[in-house]
Amino acid sequence: MIDLRRIRYVRVGTPDLGEATDFATKVLGLEPAGRERGMAYFRSDERDHTICYVEGDPARHSVAFEVSESADLQAIAAEIERVGYPVHAGTAAEREARRVLDFIAFKDPTGNEIEIVWRAQYATRRYFPSRDAGITGFSHIGLHTNDAGRDEKFWTQVFNARASDWIGDAPLLRINPVHHSIALFPSSHVGVQHINHQVESIDDVMRSWYLLREQRGIRIVFGPGRHLSSGAVFLYFEGLDKMVYEYSCGVRIIEDEATYVPRQLPFTAEAFCMWGAKPDIVEFRAPDPLVTL
Ligand SMILES: [Fe+2]
Repeated sequence: MIDLRRIRYVRVGTPDLGEATDFATKVLGLEPAGRERGMAYFRSDERDHTICYVEGDPARHSVAFEVSESADLQAIAAEIERVGYPVHAGTAAEREARRVLDFIAFKDPTGNEIEIVWRAQYATRRYFPSRDAGITGFSHIGLHTNDAGRDEKFWTQVFNARASDWIGDAPLLRINPVHHSIALFPSSHVGVQHINHQVESIDDVMRSWYLLREQRGIRIVFGPGRHLSSGAVFLYFEGLDKMVYEYSCGVRIIEDEATYVPRQLPFTAEAFCMWGAKPDIVEFRAPDPLVTL
C-alpha cells in the first residue's frame, strides 16, 4: 500500500481554450499560470497549477495525486499492473506539460484516468486571484464509478485511501486528514464528476451564490447548503461542458485516525444537505421510485 500525500491537479478537455480561460478567470476566479501548446494552466493556491484545460475532447479528464518518493512510482506501477491494469510511464514531453519531474498514468477499474506525480512544481509568487472568490485551494474531486464497492477496494487496497463516510454506496475517501479528497459516485459515465475548491468562509460561498446567479448567468445546481458528512458549507454550479464545480468551506479534518468511525448515511437529499437543499445533480439524486399503474 502506497501513501498518496494529496490531490495535485485535474486536467480537463475543452473544445475552446479561450472559453475555458474566461470561465476559469471570470467565474471560478483562478489565476492564469501560462498557456502553451494547446494547454491553459490555472492556479488556486501555492502550487504551480491545479487545473489545466487541454484542447480536445471535453469528456476526457484526468486527476493527479502526489507521492513523496520516486520509488513510490515504481511500486505503484508494479501493483497496478499486478492487479491487471496497464501503466504508462510519463514521457519527457508529458512530464514537461505537467510541470513535474516524473509521473505514471493508468485507469482505475471504472476507466477514470489517474496520474501519480512526483516533485510537482510550486509557484514562485503568491496566489493572486482573477476575482476575489475567497479560494484557498483546490481540494477534492468527485469521480464517476460503475461499481462503487469494487472501486473503493481499489483505492483502499492499492493506496492509503480510507472511507470517511458513505452516502448510500458512494464512499467519501480520505488520503490525509481532510475528510475526503476523492468521492466515488455511482454513474454510467466515466471521468471527473465535480471539482472542488475550498473558500475561506461562508461569506465567500454566499457572495458567489449571488454573483454567479445574478451577474454571471451561471446555473446553480445545488446549494447553498451544508453537507451532513463533511460538515462543509457548499455551493455547486455548472461550468463548461456540464462539468460541475463546487466551492466549500469548513470541511471536517480528521485528526485522530484511531478513534474516527466512518458513518453510513442513506442516499437521500437530506444526507447530502442537512439544511434541506435539493441537488439538481443526477449523481446526487436517488432514482425515482418506479411508478406502477
Ligand atoms: Fe464535493
